[in-house]
Amino acid sequence: MRKKFILDSENDVTCEALFKRRRDIIKGIISAPFVLSTNFSNAENKHLIFQKDIKYSTNEQTNTIKQITSYNNFYELGSGKRDPMINANSLKTDNWKLTVDGLVEKPQTFDLDELIKKFTLEERIYRLRCVEAWSMVIPWIGFELNKLIKLVKPLSSAKYISFQSILDRENLPGQRREILQWPYREGLRIDEANNPLTILSVGLYGKVLPNQNGSPIRLVVPWKYGFKSIKSIVKISLVSEEPETSWNLETPNEYGFYSNVNPYVNHPRWSQKRERRIGEFRKRDTEMFNGYSEFVSSLYKGMDLKKFF
Ligand code: MTE
Repeated sequence: MRKKFILDSENDVTCEALFKRRRDIIKGIISAPFVLSTNFSNAENKHLIFQKDIKYSTNEQTNTIKQITSYNNFYELGSGKRDPMINANSLKTDNWKLTVDGLVEKPQTFDLDELIKKFTLEERIYRLRCVEAWSMVIPWIGFELNKLIKLVKPLSSAKYISFQSILDRENLPGQRREILQWPYREGLRIDEANNPLTILSVGLYGKVLPNQNGSPIRLVVPWKYGFKSIKSIVKISLVSEEPETSWNLETPNEYGFYSNVNPYVNHPRWSQKRERRIGEFRKRDTEMFNGYSEFVSSLYKGMDLKKFF
């Protein structure tokens, strides 16, 4: 995130199958569950079975798989935008386990494949707005985080959720340097975590998540800046106090706990008024809560969002 913004020079190539599928969504023709077959490289060739979501998905043009997998922030795999793609194979995802613990009645460690079978997977087409003032539209596959929270039976003292990414200094090139305090950490207030927009994603464009996008399981919180959407999660803990988060620990005056997309609160180094959709030339206006106000503004009633940035 410290690097200067680099203009993306790729063509905005769009897959025909997706155009057709988007038309079907608009017409309201839904065939679910179904499997989408799209040809792309660099992602594991494993299809997922999922249903399309209409309520929370945007109708905007999705970014291409090439754009989504070659312009990333994933500091464990390097701090350049292309590093996560180049070093993708350094992330080892076999036999992945996800532990959910803390202030809960039933702490559990899940085998990832079992976890995926437990919930109906949905496709959610979300905007992702990064703090460096670029954005993408991505067809995520996942399930609502609130379903997992319910499973472990939270105690009433659980007010926040803390997330932790993989720690593997031996294999992950970025973790051999102290660019951040490892492992990467993030947090949400429990009502934010329970909001139906908040998903755990296990795939995109119909297939399992490419490593550079946070395989095998990552968070997606579409009304917050991209860095809240923590990748390659190994642990989720329910806690009573606001948890520490990686970027807030690093530079507290630049990265707050809430980090809601807000065109009226600038980052010290970037204006947040406008954004560049990757693949487009002309900038667009940034919308409050990244355009998701109708679903989330009530979470922040009465809060001074300049203070709680
Ligand atoms: N998660 C981990 N573990 N490590 C990271 O460096 N970067 C964050 C977030 N999640 C990051 C992470 C940032 S800054 C952004 S913008 C998004 O991932 C980017 O997600 P994408 O590469 O899938 O678009």
